[in-house]
Amino acid sequence: MPEITSIKDRLVFNSRGDKTIEIDVITDNRYLGRACAPSGASVGMFEAQSFVNNDPAVTLSNFRNIKNKFIGLDSSNLQGLHNAIKEVDKTDNYSKIGGSIAYALSIASIDSASRSMDIPFYKVLNPKLNSVVLPYPLGNILGGGAHAGPGTPDLQEFLITPVVSKSIEEAISLNSKIHKELKKNIEKIDHKFTYGKGDEGGWAPNIINDKAIELVEKAIIQCGYDPKSEVRMGIDFASSSLWDEKNRIYTYSREGITRTPEEQLEYAANLISNYHLIYAEDPLHEEDFDNMAILTKEHPRCLVTGDDLLVTNKKRVKIAASKNACSGAILKVNQAGTLYDAINFANECNSDNIKVITSHRSGESVDNHISHIAIATTSVMIKTGVVGGERISKLNELIRISEYGLIEGMAKLSNV
Ligand code: PGA
Ligand code: ZN
Repeated sequence: MPEITSIKDRLVFNSRGDKTIEIDVITDNRYLGRACAPSGASVGMFEAQSFVNNDPAVTLSNFRNIKNKFIGLDSSNLQGLHNAIKEVDKTDNYSKIGGSIAYALSIASIDSASRSMDIPFYKVLNPKLNSVVLPYPLGNILGGGAHAGPGTPDLQEFLITPVVSKSIEEAISLNSKIHKELKKNIEKIDHKFTYGKGDEGGWAPNIINDKAIELVEKAIIQCGYDPKSEVRMGIDFASSSLWDEKNRIYTYSREGITRTPEEQLEYAANLISNYHLIYAEDPLHEEDFDNMAILTKEHPRCLVTGDDLLVTNKKRVKIAASKNACSGAILKVNQAGTLYDAINFANECNSDNIKVITSHRSGESVDNHISHIAIATTSVMIKTGVVGGERISKLNELIRISEYGLIEGMAKLSNV
């Protein structure tokens, strides 16, 4: 068995320049696996808590006192490692050990096992996988909300995915072509546009939501593609960041308007229909399973997706499935805690016929494990952004994975 022989750890910095935790797991004294914990800006209420007392240094120093407990474990055994973490931290949200430790330790362990066993990371995670289906890249090309500055759209992310593409290279190239084309469209409208970008590499212009989606659609058409069937659009509404629980209203501060839950439902439904969206993430706030169910029922060609709604939590996706509250589910390992938790979540989604979309966070590293996690969980899309080193690293890894020879092609999205 591949045995964990040592563990190193350090404070490093993420793509936003904030401190985070990186862990090295060494198997059999020589095989190094490494993982760095990402972090979100629009964090769901029910997510794992990244740091003890919100302090990376405290989290790390606590970990140093207990890390020997993990020495001697099988680095390829995700459940064994998960159980050992749970012995130290019995809380549901990893507030005692810190979700960043649960994340980095479990991913570094599989990374190290993959090197010692000389098989790809995704295959260690899912040994039964006989062929590889590649996820479509779902790229953020224009952003606002919690990821960009004042004057940008209230909605967090305007996304595209090139379902027309037959290979991953073609898909990546098409997304970046449209990202470039969009810049020209923005310049014509926002005369003071400085080419500024949000945290995930999407353009951050001084325009309102409706203009933003219009410009994205135009860029797709100018590049020669049909937004109804070839390069489809999506929106991450990140509605919980607009939701005012006290007054039970959605506040669009950029536009200076509010929407009641009924108006928000209607607004989201109109955007889905008018722009043929393939993807609508968190169109309602994180507790509104009922209105999510209405959208899901009425828009079978759109993946009505839960991010803050589900927080990569198996119990929450079970509730969502029982209410038919979504057709898509975002998987972010650090929302769940350990990689074992995240894989269980994906298994639950797959058995409920809810499509999995593996996702980056807005605060990222250049790690590319999520590309393998997307393959192992048979995700239909990977949400990674289009430009920026920490985004491109995930996309380039998919190109490397596509060289392995067991490739069946791109994910099947025929029903949407
Ligand atoms: P976050 O945003 O990583 O800042 O939470 C991404 C998202 O909401 O999908
Ligand atoms: Zn989201």
